[in-house]
Amino acid sequence: MTTARPAAVIILAAGEGTRMKSATPKVLHRIGGRSLVGHAIVAARATNPHHLAVVVRHERDLVASHIGEVDATATIADQDDVKGTGRATECALDALPTELSGTVLVTYGDVPLLTGETLVDLVARHEESGSAATVITAHLADPQGYGRIVRDADGSVAGIVEQKDATEEQRAITEINSGIYAFDVEVLREALGQVGTDNAQGEKYLTDVLSIARDAGKRVSAHVIDDLWQTEGVNDRVQLAALGRELNRRNNESWMRDGVTIVDPATTWIDSDVSIGRDATILPGTQLLGATSVGAGARIGPDTTLTDTEVGEGAEVKRTEANLAKIGPGATVGPYSYLRPGTVLGAKGKIGGFVETKNAVIGDGAKVPHLTYCGDATIGEGANIGAGTIFANYDGVAKHHTTIGRHSFVGSDTVLVAPVDVADGAYVAAGSALTGDVEPGQIAVARGRQRNVDGWVARARAGTPTAAAAAAATEAGTRHTGSSADSTADEGEAPA
Ligand code: UD1
Ligand code: CA
Repeated sequence: MTTARPAAVIILAAGEGTRMKSATPKVLHRIGGRSLVGHAIVAARATNPHHLAVVVRHERDLVASHIGEVDATATIADQDDVKGTGRATECALDALPTELSGTVLVTYGDVPLLTGETLVDLVARHEESGSAATVITAHLADPQGYGRIVRDADGSVAGIVEQKDATEEQRAITEINSGIYAFDVEVLREALGQVGTDNAQGEKYLTDVLSIARDAGKRVSAHVIDDLWQTEGVNDRVQLAALGRELNRRNNESWMRDGVTIVDPATTWIDSDVSIGRDATILPGTQLLGATSVGAGARIGPDTTLTDTEVGEGAEVKRTEANLAKIGPGATVGPYSYLRPGTVLGAKGKIGGFVETKNAVIGDGAKVPHLTYCGDATIGEGANIGAGTIFANYDGVAKHHTTIGRHSFVGSDTVLVAPVDVADGAYVAAGSALTGDVEPGQIAVARGRQRNVDGWVARARAGTPTAAAAAAATEAGTRHTGSSADSTADEGEAPA
């Protein structure tokens, strides 16, 4: 079934949100990596409306500029001094083209779990039933604080009464107003003109539109939904956390249904804009944030936080913090790695334990396996960077670049004093402090020569076990008198 595009969606976001007790406007608080109003905009956009307006007032400039970042085409509507949801809606209509016709949706900027699907359903229900107004309602065990849906004896919706204006009898009603509606725009405009402020709060209530329309002989309907989370607004930080957890539960569940293994959903946080390929595995304690994408078959975690990071197919990222990084297919990262913005690791490359990278392009199959700081660097494919190498990129004034060529080899404990350029197929000896370029095929040795001083231990450390061991070995005419375990070099060994 295809539904007509609504003429407009109006998002009310002018309220102050005092119970957040925050310097940040309520609708800019975030869950699932998006602001509350960001969630409202994404849901609204799913209905493909001709216009989208957001009503602002509290911290107007801050909220308006954020909305501009989320959706540059949204209309910002300013609410004036008159209070209430009805006035807010009126201000939005004033900011939209006057020739608007058909269906207009009204939603809130602080109801983040409402989905686009629910709004699309609402439009369909509203239009199929030929209603002038349709309100999303829900049955709550505890309806305190909400507007109640008053129905006639025949079950049709008569109107909405606010908690503060309700009689004892009306307060016993458990069907509540979600605050989400579809209206025929002409009926809405006309009825808003008649809404007054003669109520307990002295506000212009949007809810009054329903009884006004009904009294004018129009059809008013309710669309009851079972998923109560979708109607829940954020008023304080307790609700913010509860809705954040539920949103996360939903995000996790939807990825699992799409073929992603999440070992421990309770400790896995996946923002709403993340994407994950099939057969990826997410291990406990992992956060995938922002616009992070994870390729098929990749394995992330445990205890890993990736922000706006791209992970290729089949890559493995363990106990890592990464921000604005790109990890190539089949690459391995971690444990205990810190990838800062501009890190690009090629296919099957490696960033190993206790390695920090920044603005570093590391080629296919290249390895930075141990204890290294790699900043402002280009490393060619197949190169190997020895343990404890430092890319000294900062001279106290400016940052400089280091280039390591293809299949080159940097020995352990080397300081590369940038700017420096090691060509393709070159070596740097362990322990070097490299300050000049190295040409193809060369080895650079930039360290003091070894000097052995005979008899030093006997003179300077007489009477110590060291001196005794030296004497014994000398007397036996050997270098080692005791037994010593053989050590076997393995793949993880630091290059010389
Ligand atoms: C409103 C409804 C109530 C419903 C409840 C659902 C009215 C009169 N009441 O009550 O029936 O059960 O929502 O949550 O509509 N806003 C503005 N400008 C204003 C006032 C509010 O933009 O002048 C925005 C707020 O930012 C918020 C939304 O409208 O996003 C709801 O406002 P709020 O004050 O929370 O309304 P409630 O009193 O909860
Ligand atoms: Ca509210």
